[in-house]
Amino acid sequence: MPYICPICQSPLLQHLPSKGYFCKNKHHFDLAKEGYLNLLPAQYKKSKEPGDSRAMMRARRNFLEAGFYQPMAQALAKIIDSHKSATTPMHILDVGCGEGYYCRQLEALAENPESLDLHGIDIAKNAIFAAAKKQQNARFIVASNKNMPYADQYFDLLLRIYAPSNDQEITRLLKPDGLLLIVTPGPRHLWQLKEFIYKEVKEHSVDVALPAGFAQIASQRVSYKTQPDSEQRMALLHMTPFAWRANATTQQQIQRVHNLEIEADFILTLAMLR
Ligand SMILES: C[S@@+](CC[C@H](N)C(=O)[O-])C[C@H]1O[C@@H](n2cnc3c(N)ncnc32)[C@H](O)[C@@H]1O
Ligand SMILES: [Zn+2]
Repeated sequence: MPYICPICQSPLLQHLPSKGYFCKNKHHFDLAKEGYLNLLPAQYKKSKEPGDSRAMMRARRNFLEAGFYQPMAQALAKIIDSHKSATTPMHILDVGCGEGYYCRQLEALAENPESLDLHGIDIAKNAIFAAAKKQQNARFIVASNKNMPYADQYFDLLLRIYAPSNDQEITRLLKPDGLLLIVTPGPRHLWQLKEFIYKEVKEHSVDVALPAGFAQIASQRVSYKTQPDSEQRMALLHMTPFAWRANATTQQQIQRVHNLEIEADFILTLAMLR
């Protein structure tokens, strides 16, 4: 079983008639109608709705579903395909998966989707609800990446795309020969959008901080131009932290400008335990 109890860390077993999960100490977790598990007990929540807001999640879904980041998703699928695990299925976890776009893409782009066992974790319940509703063949849980309720060494690959993570947990969850695939912004990511917001736009560093004990085995830069329309530019703004920095006038300028070409630029880093 992939899951452990978030309260006592014992393995979680599924009760088949109800489909809920329980541990030997009788902690019990229902499976939501949409198919996700909430493994973030109320006593561990630091706020009422932790993680990204529903508005951010919807903006991200609208922008991503329009396909603007699909070239990056294709590059991820290719890397995964060329590093298949020795045993099938390959257990993959998307850490901070948000509304699940990349899990859906990995299933859609895989040569053999049955060979992938896709999981997603996020602290935002609204995002996990949306992810689970749209993809039956992946398993989603609400939980914090600081305390990821999965069994030790369960995963062959962990994916971290623009999301926070906890080094200790990443190390614990990966098999000894497991892979960590990280996506971070490349030097010119969203350059033209940032020109509206900052007086002086600076390039992102290409250096990626790896968790202690990990060594990089490959790195790839994926960059290209996009041309979102006015509404899609607003969605892009609202799925990034830039929205906080752009006042109403700047937001209007971004909305009204004609034919803005925006660079997408990503660094994909593949690492494994030394
Ligand atoms: C920038 S979004 C990226 C989402 C997704 N990876 C994507 O690229 O579409 C960061 C995500 O991390 C989640 N997050 C923030 N803090 C978290 C935590 N402590 N544990 C788990 N997820 C967290 C947020 O809810 C949000 O969905
Ligand atoms: Zn328990």
